[in-house]
Formats: sequence, structure tokens, C-alpha cells
Amino acid sequence: MRRAIFPGSFDPLTNGHLDIIRRSAPLFDEMIVAVLNNPEKKPMFTVEERCEMIREVLPTVNTAGCTMLVESFSGLTAEFAKSRNASAIVRGIRAVADYEYELRMALMNRRLEPTIETVFLMAGEEFSYVSSTLMKQVFELGGRVEGLIPELVESRMREKKN
Ligand code: PNS
Repeated sequence: MRRAIFPGSFDPLTNGHLDIIRRSAPLFDEMIVAVLNNPEKKPMFTVEERCEMIREVLPTVNTAGCTMLVESFSGLTAEFAKSRNASAIVRGIRAVADYEYELRMALMNRRLEPTIETVFLMAGEEFSYVSSTLMKQVFELGGRVEGLIPELVESRMREKKN
């Protein structure tokens, strides 16, 4: 049984995240989308809202028979992965700018839990500039984000704005 976690803030879920889920799913039997509950940050969506949106959107993605679960977590990613008996932490890399931060995280997570490997997947080039932060910023300023975030997420963002 190959189980992975795909951790992140997902504030909000983007099509870049879905691309990584679609690409990584065939590699595992089960994958937990692990939504970080970070009280220090002031997110646009509560952790419950983020989990709910991901659960609603996931059935639209071809996950190649991989069982998909969505859970929130607090504290260390490595500890959460261990508590779920995961053997891998999945992370997406968009461009070289992501590499240094991701490398540091992967090495720290390996130090914390040596049996858990970080698996990097390259996001599709069409998502190389898509980040949750940029999507929120563009949306707030009235720019178009269609095709870059799921429609459901966009409508929830609209509800938040009104
Ligand atoms: O989507 P993000 O914001 O890039 O995800 C970052 C995340 C949640 C993976 C990272 O901040 C994280 O793992 N936080 C949990 C705390 C932790 O384990 N820190 C040490 C990582 S080396």
C-alpha cells in the first residue's frame, strides 16, 4: 500500500494544485490532501472551507484509481505524514525559484522523518506562474482568473468579496 500526503495551505486550491494531484495520483494507492491549519496566517478561507472546496472539486479530476482523502493538520508536516503511515510527501515545483525553498523543506522533513521521501513533480508549464497568493491578489483587484482556479473556488471567492 503506497500512501502519500500532498501538504499545503491551499488558500485557495488552484488548477496548478489539481495538476499536481492528477500527475501524482497514478504513483500511489492513496493520497491525503493535507491542508495546513496555520493560526499565524490570516487566510482568505477557513481550513474547513478549504477542505470542503477540495472535496467538492476532487471528483472532477482523473485520479487513476488512487483513493483521495482530504484532511486538515496542525504542526509538522513530517509528523502528520508519519501519523498516517505515508511513505511520501508530494510537492509541486513550478519554476527554478521554487527549488531552494522546496529543497530546504525536503531536507528538513527527511531529517525529521528519514523514512519518508519527498517526491517532486513538475507542474504543467501553463501553471508555472499560478500561485494561491497571486490568484487572490488578481481576483481582489478585479482581474480575470478563469482557467487558473476551479470554477467552484472562483464562485466562493466572489461570495467572500460580496
Ligand atoms: O502551500 P504552501 O504554503 O507552499 O505549503 C507549505 C507547507 C504547508 C507544506 C509548509 O509550510 C509546511 O510543511 N508547514 C508545516 C510546518 C512544518 O512542517 N514546517 C517545517 C517544514 S521543513
